[in-house]
Amino acid sequence: MTVQEFQEQFGIVGRSKAIRDLADIAMQVARSDVTALLSGESGVGKEVFARAIHGYSARSEKRLVSVNCGAIPEGILESELFGHVKGSFTGAAEARKGYFEQADGGTLFLDEIAETPVATQAKLLRAIENKEFMRLGAETITKVDVRFIAATNKDLETEVAAKRFRKDLYFRLKAVTLNIPPLRERKIDVEELALKFAREFGERRGNGSLELTRGALELLREHPWPGNVRELRNAIETAVALTRDYVLDEATFAPLLRREETFEERNLPVAVGRTPEEVDRELIYRALFELKKDIMEIKDILNERDYAREPEIVEDPFPEVYSMREVERRAIEAALKKTGGNKRRAALLLNISERTLYRKMKEYDL
Ligand SMILES: Nc1ncnc2c1ncn2[C@@H]1O[C@H](COP(=O)(O)OP(=O)(O)OP(=O)(O)O)[C@@H](O)[C@H]1O
Ligand SMILES: [Mg+2]
Repeated sequence: MTVQEFQEQFGIVGRSKAIRDLADIAMQVARSDVTALLSGESGVGKEVFARAIHGYSARSEKRLVSVNCGAIPEGILESELFGHVKGSFTGAAEARKGYFEQADGGTLFLDEIAETPVATQAKLLRAIENKEFMRLGAETITKVDVRFIAATNKDLETEVAAKRFRKDLYFRLKAVTLNIPPLRERKIDVEELALKFAREFGERRGNGSLELTRGALELLREHPWPGNVRELRNAIETAVALTRDYVLDEATFAPLLRREETFEERNLPVAVGRTPEEVDRELIYRALFELKKDIMEIKDILNERDYAREPEIVEDPFPEVYSMREVERRAIEAALKKTGGNKRRAALLLNISERTLYRKMKEYDL
């Protein structure tokens, strides 16, 4: 099979040198059992390559099991990966096979590997190296025959430096790394991808091939695509849904590719092309959010409990502690000061008899 045929069979669109080279490497990787690491920004096609490697490998008849290491709660990740025996923890009513066993004979795709908690990373490394592990609560070792593919959109070297990722696991994974460049660094692929998606969504809508004008393609080519191929795919899908005829032109895409830098775009999971309605909705949400913030602030001020913002004006909830004697002495002192030494009025203020006051004054030498 040629690289081109491989790309066609597994739907890897792209004529750029980067993609052709990666496809070539993926073919070689597929023929072996070596662990591969796919890295690249969100939406560049890591999963596409993972499927192609599995699909072209001798394991293609067996399962490709995908685990999103970032989406599974920390507490249950290990039991999800390695399985558990009956009664190994509260709620473990039945024994369960983990992903490692489910992938036996096939491929285990460890997606978002950088999100694996450090504690689990050690176990993961051992399991990857030896292809054996223990189910939670088990006393015996389980062996599996699995090929591993890991993916990350984080720079693992940075994660290692920050001590969020184990160095030994990193070295184990990085032997064969397929680094998929962002779409903006391979603009030559935009046209082919856009046409493929236009065909795909056009057919799905039942009106066959949709045309993209030169101007539209130019516009798409120059867009920075922070969400990469996924964003392009979404943009085409929206455009196909919005268009009334069979031509997608600049005017169709212009509102979809507008980017509101002010809308904390980086925090959005995936930056997709937005329709004017979506942009409007975002602005309304943002306004509501600001309004809510204002209300909270006003509430705080009214309640005089704006601790978070101005800790220096906060009164100590635990003022200094004095002995009861000292409290008494200070109270008498204050009462005398306030009444200009008038003992009768001071005693009234203190709610004690004049006689007691005299006695106490003597006692405290006032
Ligand atoms: N080279 C490509 N050819 C065809 N389709 C592609 C290509 N690259 C990506 N896609 C499509 O773009 C979308 C996103 O790709 P994919 O899910 O593989 O990205 P990813 O790198 O795994 O992203 P994430 O990090 O967010 O999981 C999918 O719909 C996929 O089919
Ligand atoms: Mg993915």
